[in-house]
Amino acid sequence: MKFDSPATTNPIDQLKVVGQPVDRIDGPLKTTGTAPYAYDRYDVVPNQAYGYVLGSAIAKGRIAGMDLAAAKAAPGVITIVTAQNAGKLAKGDLNTAKLLGGPEIQHYHQAVAVVVAETFEQARAAAMLIRVNYSAAKGSFDLDAVKDKAVSADVFNAAGETSVGNFTAAFPAAPVQLDATYSTAHESHSMLEPHATVAAWDGDRLTLWTSNQMIAWAVSDMAKTLGMPKEKIRVMSPYIGGGFGAKLFLRSDALMAALAARAARRPVKVALQRALIPNNTVHRSATIQRLRIGATRDGQITAIGHESWSGNLPGGGLEAGAVQTRALYAGANRITSNRLATLDLPEANAMRAPNEAPGLAVLEIAMDEMAEKLAMDPIEFRIRNDTQVVPDFPGKPASSDPQSKKPEQKEKQNSTPPFSKRQLVQCFQVGAKQFGWDKRNPKPGQVRDGRWLIGMGVASAFRDNLVTKSAARVRLDRNGNVTVETDMTDIGTGSYTIIAQTAAEMMGVPLNKVNVRLGDSSFPASCGSGGQWGGNSSTSGVYAACMKLREAVAQKAGLNATDAVFADGQIRSGQTSIPLADLAGSRGLVAEDMIEFGDLDKRYQQSTFGAHFVEVGVDAATGETRVRRMLAVCAAGRILNPKTARSQVIGAMTMGVGAALMEELAVDTRHGFFVNHDLALYEVPVHADIPHQEVIFLDETDPISSPMKAKGVGELGICGIAAAVANAVYNATGVRVRDYPITLDKLIGKMQSMA
Ligand code: MOS
Repeated sequence: MKFDSPATTNPIDQLKVVGQPVDRIDGPLKTTGTAPYAYDRYDVVPNQAYGYVLGSAIAKGRIAGMDLAAAKAAPGVITIVTAQNAGKLAKGDLNTAKLLGGPEIQHYHQAVAVVVAETFEQARAAAMLIRVNYSAAKGSFDLDAVKDKAVSADVFNAAGETSVGNFTAAFPAAPVQLDATYSTAHESHSMLEPHATVAAWDGDRLTLWTSNQMIAWAVSDMAKTLGMPKEKIRVMSPYIGGGFGAKLFLRSDALMAALAARAARRPVKVALQRALIPNNTVHRSATIQRLRIGATRDGQITAIGHESWSGNLPGGGLEAGAVQTRALYAGANRITSNRLATLDLPEANAMRAPNEAPGLAVLEIAMDEMAEKLAMDPIEFRIRNDTQVVPDFPGKPASSDPQSKKPEQKEKQNSTPPFSKRQLVQCFQVGAKQFGWDKRNPKPGQVRDGRWLIGMGVASAFRDNLVTKSAARVRLDRNGNVTVETDMTDIGTGSYTIIAQTAAEMMGVPLNKVNVRLGDSSFPASCGSGGQWGGNSSTSGVYAACMKLREAVAQKAGLNATDAVFADGQIRSGQTSIPLADLAGSRGLVAEDMIEFGDLDKRYQQSTFGAHFVEVGVDAATGETRVRRMLAVCAAGRILNPKTARSQVIGAMTMGVGAALMEELAVDTRHGFFVNHDLALYEVPVHADIPHQEVIFLDETDPISSPMKAKGVGELGICGIAAAVANAVYNATGVRVRDYPITLDKLIGKMQSMA
């Protein structure tokens, strides 16, 4: 099904099942520990051996030699695979560094060997006996130090640098100006489930049970790496304990397990130990960002300039902090610039709301600073500069769609497209009322609650809505049950549930008559989970397949599918009413289709919006910050399930609190690695750090986005939240911290009103 004109009325609009706060279908499996994650797959294949990955002890250089003798002789050891004996390996299309290093080493903890043994402990013990002789080279590890050597880089399929009007002239001429530089930290995805894979060979066929967001990409990248046909690889990933972008692409667990299983001639399971993950896999790059905003005295932005610097290994992509500034606020004269420096740190790659999350973390502090200079309420300042068209449109909207790493046409567009829906102002208005914004004292450092200094902050949330083709197969059986099969993944987002809701609505059956099967490359290829496109695109694929199934059912019934009503397990038309079960026949009815999106995402800017409200308390003596209240008001198209959508938003808000107050991979700039590479030293928010959170979804349906009229919501919630926290800390203390995370050392001794 081609979706190239705005959706009209369709069966989803009944909202009997879709739009309802249905519990997670996989909830009981997860809460009872019975959902089979990759490393739990003892059942799928017998005789599994254990692989343990050894990571490089240098960040850059070469392996001069390896002594495996002691390790090979250790108890239980079956085999050891290194680059020396692994056979020919190509680099996958989607990885920046090789997943098996040697002799060249590209980054610290790059895999250099996998030891296979009868038990995990034996494999680990033997790995410790491997002697590697490294010849280290000098590397570049400090973004600040190499920033001036950074070059302009394209943002996926949009230009890195843009210019509209004459910023150079307009900024110095503006009566009110801000020029400030900020930084965000290197961050680790730190998802609950580590990267893990069970690999088994059957002759020349390879099966992987793994934890991966994008099944079809995993198949094609593994095929390329091993130089084998895609048809001989099957990847399964039905349950995933979080990904946040770290599992978009193959990681070393998958390749090491495949190589180890081939060498050992038996199935091998590999989980990356937690302390290996931050340096072995991927992280979000730190950024340095300069913001210049010029405005008239009544708060009209006349000039806005946003420059962003990030770093990556040679060949890697950038964290484009300045992209969303092209479309969020009005202003006639504007520049954006996204530059990339070469660093020899581990690979930087997509992490929840890549670009927007660090970009808005900075832009939205700058907006707060500017509002203060103007003596304007920060909400009023944002409303005054609202825009219903994209003021700076360099081509296809910048997106984090990693698919567009594959070269795509860049087209310069001269007209500025309208937003399909943009309710940013409404988000602020609703939120201000709900949160009690009028009680905020605009003067910082004035409100006390015992030893706590209290402050409130706001920020805009803004994230593009990406759409990606997605296929599904639906089967109706003789009992009237509907089974959906698609290689879509559920990374904790609720895919099982919203897909079941979609099929139930389309076929007019109750939810318990729908069975959803996901995460298997033998099913039709879906959009996968990434870039907050999964919910809308995958259910649209299911919608398309169900439309075909409705036609097949109607044809069998001798009815016209367009007039027929599907309800209560029956197809009805006129006086006729036939149970679906009767029409399925003994062999059932099967339909398969794919949703493909036309150019509506080029004719309209499809985005999601929100307003974040945060109240913090900062201990006047110690500088400790505690978040006290949070509210997000979101406008993100039709909400397919308010319960799972709310969970996405509060999860993202929580992650944003981490970015604001805690999260930072600390770089050893001499040896080039992240020092705090475990969950003891890399701090993330836990329950005690997060207070009452509230989420309000504005009523919105967006017929431009898809037949579901929905949009993404999983990444919207993290966008801007860090700045809302930072602005609240400023309002509480009068201390403006421009370098994340806002740890107490940056506050203590500077607060206006000490205990
Ligand atoms: Mo997302 S960072 O595209 O999983």
